[in-house]
Amino acid sequence: MRQILVTSALPYANGHIHIGHLVEYLQTDIWVRFQKMQGNRCLYICADDTHGTAITIRARAEGRTEEEVIAEMGEAHQRDFGGFGIEFDNYGSTHSPENRAVCHEIWAALRKADMIVEEEIDQLFDVEKGIFLADRFVRGTCPKCGSKNQPGDNCGHCGATYSPTDLVDPVSALSGSKPEIRAARHLFVQTEKMHDFLNEWTQSGTLPSESANYLKNFFLNEPLRDWDVSRPGPYFGFEIPDSPGNYWYVWFDAPIGYIGSTSEWCNRHGEKLDDWWKSDKTEIHHFIGKDIQYFHTLFWPAMLKTAGFTLPTRVHIHGFLTVDGEKMSKSRGTFVRASKYLEHLNPSFLRYYYATKLSAKVEDLDLNLEEFVARVNSDLVGKVVNLASRTAKFVSESGLSKSYPEDGGLFKTFAERGEPIAEAYEKGEYSKAMRMIMELADLANPYVEANAPWDLRKDPARAAELQDVCTVALNLFRTLVIYLAPVLPDLAEKTGALFGEVITTWDQAKNPLINRPIAAFQHMLQRVDPAKVELMITESREENAETDSAVTANPSWDDSAGALLANPIAGQIGIEEFLKVDLRVARIVEAREVPEAKKLVQLTLSLGGDERRNVFAGIKSAYEPADLVGRLVVMVANLAPRTMKFGVSEGMIVAAGPGGEDIFLLSPDEGAVPGQRVG
Ligand code: MSP
Ligand code: ZN
Repeated sequence: MRQILVTSALPYANGHIHIGHLVEYLQTDIWVRFQKMQGNRCLYICADDTHGTAITIRARAEGRTEEEVIAEMGEAHQRDFGGFGIEFDNYGSTHSPENRAVCHEIWAALRKADMIVEEEIDQLFDVEKGIFLADRFVRGTCPKCGSKNQPGDNCGHCGATYSPTDLVDPVSALSGSKPEIRAARHLFVQTEKMHDFLNEWTQSGTLPSESANYLKNFFLNEPLRDWDVSRPGPYFGFEIPDSPGNYWYVWFDAPIGYIGSTSEWCNRHGEKLDDWWKSDKTEIHHFIGKDIQYFHTLFWPAMLKTAGFTLPTRVHIHGFLTVDGEKMSKSRGTFVRASKYLEHLNPSFLRYYYATKLSAKVEDLDLNLEEFVARVNSDLVGKVVNLASRTAKFVSESGLSKSYPEDGGLFKTFAERGEPIAEAYEKGEYSKAMRMIMELADLANPYVEANAPWDLRKDPARAAELQDVCTVALNLFRTLVIYLAPVLPDLAEKTGALFGEVITTWDQAKNPLINRPIAAFQHMLQRVDPAKVELMITESREENAETDSAVTANPSWDDSAGALLANPIAGQIGIEEFLKVDLRVARIVEAREVPEAKKLVQLTLSLGGDERRNVFAGIKSAYEPADLVGRLVVMVANLAPRTMKFGVSEGMIVAAGPGGEDIFLLSPDEGAVPGQRVG
């Protein structure tokens, strides 16, 4: 019996689970279920990845604490995973005391191995927001390949990693302003010290060969850069024990979360963490997407090695999901949340469809919606469930035959395929496994058709024959379901109920069932209704149109309804009425105090050429006259002159705000010139 610890990447706590994520969690869940059916001791460990600036930004925007945000998201994630039948042995959080303890341990080991150096580095600082910018809140041009609009830490185009200050033309995603470079002290892990080890480990068969080659060519043939693992506060994370005011960067404590979450499980089950993470007996399997390879194949093994933890046996790396051949898109409605899918469709459909698409290669996979419907309906309903729905009812009274009937070697063929199918699962070649299973189904269906139980039942003299045919068909069906059980646990459960057993092990497929009752046949799987797929897409498109703006909303925006409530929108007017108001761009060429009037500023406005206007504006409480000279404003140019105590006012300038210090003059964007009409 193998002892296997399996992980999926820890999803970020700042977003919901979508069908792209599910590629990974379903792939992993299938593998874990397969291992458990093989009788191996297997733990499936995951957690929410909770730290970092993104959570703080979201929390501030929602007026909540970070803890509240991550608690709610943790629940939502687990609900979504549960809805898809993804069964973790432990689903933890990186923000746990267990994880903090492991972080401390690994940190101490890195210190002891003299792997940490402290350096003053330049970091981008958003002056408007008053915080240092996390890598993902900066975008700019990749310093290596020149791709535009790349994130602050690594390039989505060429894969280069760099520091945000290397970005060409950086822009803060928080305020849209150009960030300033400020010095701060950071702590670095000297990954280069592990170069020889990483060279060997990455090339030792632990990674898909594409990934191993990629690392060898792009990263390991030059010295590895020091890895910046600290961030100055305020930062939502764990404070570094020997560096007060500094926090571990989220990518430091995130993978450690695999161990932290295992530790939670151990505490619950009275087991020792070392038996899992410091034991030669344990195989560790990580499932991750290709976007986070660098962290898992260089930094992570270097940390584990230094701190004396078990190294990953295999890192299973998958590609990205496309829908109908294109990147998931909010505007097309193909950015589908897990919860939205579950409102309309059976999770088994997606579990099966992804299984037919997954291999051990680092390849993107496409969810073709038309094929999705056709494939599930023809394979699962047409070939598999049909075997039972066409035969079970004929033996509900008689039960299965006393001994296994002559079937021309069919059952034997089915049983013998168990091994190659298992091998395909083991290797992560699910598409191959599904193909082999459907080939078997293609042998079973002709048997049923040739023996036509629906005809046999019409002749009471042939009752024994009918029972035999159904016994064969149902046993073939059951074998298929056992082989499909890692993918379709729900179908396995219903099938078990039909036969009065529980399907838990692969070996159950070795022997046919005989001489036992068959329960009343219940619906096992409905066909996919294409209309529901369409509805799911339509609703996703509509909902994303709403959330899109919420996601990009800048937390520094104060967009409460206060101003509108204080001053509701006026009665409707026609365009002709609006056009009567002649708004013009004007330049303030002179601005003077009016000694007798506390609130007023006397302005001379130029409308271009010699056209000048004298205007008294009640803006003294908000603007110093000297600051106004030279700027452009918008004025009502055709307002009837008004005689005031201090002179004639020939128009007015427009401004927003309730008054007092809060008066905000309107000015045109750059390029406008005095005299231009506004409208
Ligand atoms: N929090 C990090 C992982 C830390 S692991 C110590 C993270 N989170 S994530 O939520 O962005 O992604 C979680 C996993 O889902 C990653 O392995 C990622 O590759 C995978 N996927 C996210 N979107 C995906 C697709 N569209 N397609 C396939 N996999 C996708 O990364
Ligand atoms: Zn690049």
